[in-house]
Amino acid sequence: MGAVFGTIAILSGTTIFVSAVDCTREGLLTAAQSYITAQTSGKIDGLKLSASNFTYQFNNKAADISKGQLSQALKLDLNRTSADTVACASYTMFISTSGSKPYVVGTQIRHKDNNTDEIAIIDTISATTGDLFFNAKDTLKYIQAEDWTAIPATGRPSRELLKKVGDGYLDMWTDAKAADSIPWGTNCERVEGSKLTKPCGGSLPHGGSSKQNGMRRYVIDETLGSVDVLCQFDSLGPWPDSHEVRVVDGKVKYVHTITVMSK
Ligand SMILES: *[C@@H]1O[C@H](CO)[C@@H](O)[C@H](O)[C@H]1NC(C)=O
Ligand SMILES: *[C@@H]1O[C@H](CO)[C@@H](O)[C@H](O)[C@H]1NC(C)=O
Ligand SMILES: *[C@@H]1O[C@H](CO)[C@@H](O)[C@H](O)[C@H]1NC(C)=O
Repeated sequence: MGAVFGTIAILSGTTIFVSAVDCTREGLLTAAQSYITAQTSGKIDGLKLSASNFTYQFNNKAADISKGQLSQALKLDLNRTSADTVACASYTMFISTSGSKPYVVGTQIRHKDNNTDEIAIIDTISATTGDLFFNAKDTLKYIQAEDWTAIPATGRPSRELLKKVGDGYLDMWTDAKAADSIPWGTNCERVEGSKLTKPCGGSLPHGGSSKQNGMRRYVIDETLGSVDVLCQFDSLGPWPDSHEVRVVDGKVKYVHTITVMSK
């Protein structure tokens, strides 16, 4: 799927052809779409999983993909994908309110060697009834109303800023100064599970826990101005978690959290 570029290197009089493959947004979105198709059909046959080394992780534990959530067809009310061409990874979130169990799910898909034709890792945080502030219909209502229009090329937040905002957010429970390091927008909205807080910048934690939130995995998308971090929320409990933040005009506009507490 990636464009191929050639570089000629001259080494001790020998000409060597070295090729590099770019990770493309289009390739990432195609792979993410194959995940959505698998989830809505309950069939994993259409997923191009790496034959040599594929890992499926579900709520922070290695799992068997053939027996997991993807083999159960779900009707989706909403889905959205962001793409990280540097890490060659994508983040897809979806909400399903109408099945035998409702779900709010965040999944990162990773590719090796920039090859989006093969999936190396599917890494899912899946919340349902009983999880933190869980109510899929309320979450749907809030997230449906949001504006996720791509940010014009001249106004995009840098990769560094997005990483800093994602880390700053997860550090608030252990670092008393983290909350004030984040550029909160005045009309920022936080949807924690299904709990809406507006504006985001008030009543924030300022340290207090000695355990850093760990196992952080990032998908950073400058085009949408978003960072998603999957982690284990160790500062409060070893909870499988997804925190997604969107930055618009240099300030935090949206925060979404998915936190799994049930077994
Ligand atoms: C992967 O793609 C990215 C983005 O296009 C590029 O910066 C990087 O050099 C590529 N890496 C490899 C190993 O080809
Ligand atoms: C397989 O993938 C896992 C997860 O990305 C990695 O830790 C491991 O080193 C890989 N193994 C091989 C043989 O490439
Ligand atoms: C996923 O979202 C896109 C964009 O909103 C929409 O066009 C598509 O129908 C959705 N897919 C499913 C399976 O709901």
